[in-house]
Amino acid sequence: MARHLITSAIPYINGIKHLGNLVGSQLPADLFARYQRARGHEVMFLCATDEHGTPAELAAAKAGKPVAEYCAEMHEVQAKIAEGFRLSFDHFGRSSSAQNHKLTQHFAGRLADAGLIREVSETQMYSHADGRFLPDRYIEGTCPNCGFESARGDQCDNCTKQLDPTDLINPYSTISGSTELEERETKHLYLRQSEMREKLAEWIDGKTDWPILTTSIAKKWLNDGDGLQDRGITRDLDWGVPVMKGDEPWPGMEGKVFYVWFDAPIEYIAASQEWVDAGKGTDWERWWRTDKGADDVTYTQFMGKDNVPFHTLSFPVTIFGSGEPWKLVDYIKSFNYLNYDGGQFSTSRGRGVFMDQALEILPADYWRWWLLSHAPESSDAEFTWENFQGSVNKDLADVLGNFVSRVTKFCRSKFSEAVPEGGAYGPEELALIEDITKRVRAYEKHMADMEVRKSAQELRAIWVAGNEYLQTVAPWSTFKEDPAKAAVQIRLALNLIPLYAVLSAPFIPDASASLLASMNAEDTAWPDDVTAALSQLPVGHAFTVPEVTFRKITDDEREEWQERFAGTRD
Ligand code: 2FM
Ligand code: ZN
Repeated sequence: MARHLITSAIPYINGIKHLGNLVGSQLPADLFARYQRARGHEVMFLCATDEHGTPAELAAAKAGKPVAEYCAEMHEVQAKIAEGFRLSFDHFGRSSSAQNHKLTQHFAGRLADAGLIREVSETQMYSHADGRFLPDRYIEGTCPNCGFESARGDQCDNCTKQLDPTDLINPYSTISGSTELEERETKHLYLRQSEMREKLAEWIDGKTDWPILTTSIAKKWLNDGDGLQDRGITRDLDWGVPVMKGDEPWPGMEGKVFYVWFDAPIEYIAASQEWVDAGKGTDWERWWRTDKGADDVTYTQFMGKDNVPFHTLSFPVTIFGSGEPWKLVDYIKSFNYLNYDGGQFSTSRGRGVFMDQALEILPADYWRWWLLSHAPESSDAEFTWENFQGSVNKDLADVLGNFVSRVTKFCRSKFSEAVPEGGAYGPEELALIEDITKRVRAYEKHMADMEVRKSAQELRAIWVAGNEYLQTVAPWSTFKEDPAKAAVQIRLALNLIPLYAVLSAPFIPDASASLLASMNAEDTAWPDDVTAALSQLPVGHAFTVPEVTFRKITDDEREEWQERFAGTRD
């Protein structure tokens, strides 16, 4: 039995995520976790909410709530939606947890002791009206280069010139609109990432099996000159992990917090401590400390491509730099973007389908199937309602649902609601078993390799094989001349249902569970031996004809939804 540690990038706390976010990390991570569990391996699957930073503070202010209260509420909202999508986290933590505070301060202390942190004095814009230092992107003004009046403090969107907030003419705060800004001196901690360039390069060069998307981004940042600059890891904010050197105060850093991207990945580890403290387990170190048993763990991270630099460079610097035996990631599966109906998902304009809305209109399995079978692996992908309707209606309703319904209804009408006896396998049955065996082995390989689309294609092909068999042997015709032959055909077809359910469970867990329940076969194991699995339901085994497994999406619904989610908010 292998041991798999699996983490999904942790979603920001401010607001409900859209389907593009879901398919970029949490959902494929869940697919992999469910698959590894189904194969009998030990799995620790962790995710959390990413709760610090200016956007969280601003969202709380907009909601008129104290930030801690806002985060606590939004965490519950996200946790509930995750449950709705059947994301099978062992723990869904919070980066604002006491455990993460302590661990983040611990890492900072270790990095300081190793000489990897330096103090830098810089000037930054302070807004009197807002009572805070403003991050560059919250300052706008007139571009000194082209005269564009809403140039951001980090870059002008009109002429693309990189800017410093102090370059702007007539700068103002985008939070309050105030022009009462003042340059103030402030001190920050910088992580000396550049010291580790060689170590990182060697580590990444060794990852020849990683997806090209992951290594190409990592190498670009590593070799681009700009990429591996030392990085500020503190901010002048109220909400966050207070800057401490382990348990000790950090002179000169009073009132400051760590930068959100410093503490967020540390939450992967802290989430497992929260898991213990919540009474769900007893030993987190055997997952994370190679001196405490984690040396035989395989650690896989899932994330969107924009997160890759932080996971291939910054977080590894924290881990390497600590000089402690923490478990490093073994494999990073990254994803491109999912676009929405000819454009982008937009949170601010409410364009596209958000996770809560998706569950309001259809059960999780419909979304899981479409999203995973169209995962943006080798390039960006696009959600369109036509494609979604086509996929659901063909793959789920016509291929899988219809197979189950035809087989069980036919058996009930000609025999009974029990597996019929009689007959023996002929060449068609043997050919089907051979074909399915081959395909199951291919499916296992794709799933183990996290080839999400290929896995979905193979699974669909396994469903299709059953349909084609049924079409070819046509038990409804056979029955007239040779009921015993029809009995063996239907017996094999009935046995395909629990096999399909088990194979499909990582993709469509609810439908799989209800199929297994209808077939009275809840304890069906993974088909290590397909031939044996296909005679698992013995003669006389009772079942009930399942309710409709998947319904079709009508043209009216498609049109209505297309209009509803086109983007109107604001
Ligand atoms: O991009 C995002 O949604 C970030 N909140 C991901 C953080 S992943 C990690 F580092 F914790
Ligand atoms: Zn400009």
